[in-house]
Amino acid sequence: MRMSMIEFSYFYFLITKNMAHIFFQLGTNQELSAAEISSVFQTEIEILSGNAFTSLPQQKVRNLFPELGGVMRSGIVLGEEATFEEVSERVIEYCIKKSTIGKKMKIGFHFSNKNGWKKYGIDLQKKLKAAIRDEEFSVRIVNRGPQNLDSYAVPKEKVLEKGNAEFYFIAMQHGWAWGVTKNIQKAYEFANRDMKKPVRDMKVGLMPPKLARMMINLSRNEKGELPDKIYDPFCGMGTILLEGLDLGLKIAGSDLSKKMVDATKKNTTWFYDSQQDYSAGGVLGDDNRQPFFLRDIFVKDATKDFYPDEKKKINNATIVAEGFLGKIFHRPVSEGAYLDQKENLFPLYRQFLFQISKEKIDNIVFGFPFWKAKDEEQNYFSFVDELVVFAKKLGFKQENTALRYIRDGQAVGREIVILRRK
Ligand SMILES: C[S@@+](CC[C@H](N)C(=O)[O-])C[C@H]1O[C@@H](n2cnc3c(N)ncnc32)[C@H](O)[C@@H]1O
Repeated sequence: MRMSMIEFSYFYFLITKNMAHIFFQLGTNQELSAAEISSVFQTEIEILSGNAFTSLPQQKVRNLFPELGGVMRSGIVLGEEATFEEVSERVIEYCIKKSTIGKKMKIGFHFSNKNGWKKYGIDLQKKLKAAIRDEEFSVRIVNRGPQNLDSYAVPKEKVLEKGNAEFYFIAMQHGWAWGVTKNIQKAYEFANRDMKKPVRDMKVGLMPPKLARMMINLSRNEKGELPDKIYDPFCGMGTILLEGLDLGLKIAGSDLSKKMVDATKKNTTWFYDSQQDYSAGGVLGDDNRQPFFLRDIFVKDATKDFYPDEKKKINNATIVAEGFLGKIFHRPVSEGAYLDQKENLFPLYRQFLFQISKEKIDNIVFGFPFWKAKDEEQNYFSFVDELVVFAKKLGFKQENTALRYIRDGQAVGREIVILRRK
């Protein structure tokens, strides 16, 4: 049944032949994930029930999906129904149509709402089993118990392969949208870069690779293209630079601390090495196998003038960085504690922006700190607005409203700002 509710209005796009209704399952920080999708696909999206919807060519989604950091799955929307009973009928029809004699079709179910499995999933399984008896087609449901498949189980169970399917159900305010998953995040690759890099430090290396990836994606131009080179002037352990390398970008990085610069060199070299094919002989450490980017990773106080040799390393790069967050708080802070942090950090960032304004750098994606407030009247403390006013005086404009990212159990988050030279 076609629906006329406002929430489905976006479905009524004029769809050309190769365009499909696409859903994206957003990560925990929905606003940021949605901004990333808009930046990568340069398209308007609508967020409903924790998912983003848009209309795009399927091939384009397939090609660019592996570059995303904040999206767990994507797929095509096949229909909208008023009740789950109708959804169940469509799913059974789909299985009958797609299953082939002599081959068991493997299928999975995914409910985007919490109680979907309990309320509808078990019943759907029963209906499907009854239909199998009547129609003699062959399917196997791969979910173990009434729960969604995670990003490890999906490839393992092969549900995205031809002839199989993962059905994706999205509860809307007045009915259901349903479809099939086409792409799933390679979560283990992000986890590997995070956990297996040779130098880690829980005290400093708190930046999640997926956030780093999303920030790089926010630096794309209006055609959706990535920059040639990114520069992180607060590179720490190199989390952002590792994501840049994985996307095939040139990288430059610096940090006040030599220890951090060494850590970044080790981590990026490790990653570069893991991507190379050394079967032709030679080992890492041979001079001619030195990763090309090591010369662009250097010790530097980001509030100081850049020397000519440093300028060469960073010219025309796009800055993607997360700055020094100050003291790590796990509980919301008082105004006094915030002002203490501001006293140290505001001048640091102001001076940094001033230095950068003198360089050949036109684009900046930066994560500044903000703090959860103890005070009930105020949710957050942040000096980002003041910094943006200053950046405007230096010749930059702000492209977005700041996007906030904060992890559970932490009281300091990142407020992500995109600045472009006017
Ligand atoms: C939050 S960490 C960055 C984390 C990094 N994005 C990562 O993933 O590992 C901030 C870094 O800023 C560096 N830092 C602090 N003050 C600095 C300054 N004035 N110039 C350059 N780096 C600075 C610190 O040494 C620290 O490594």
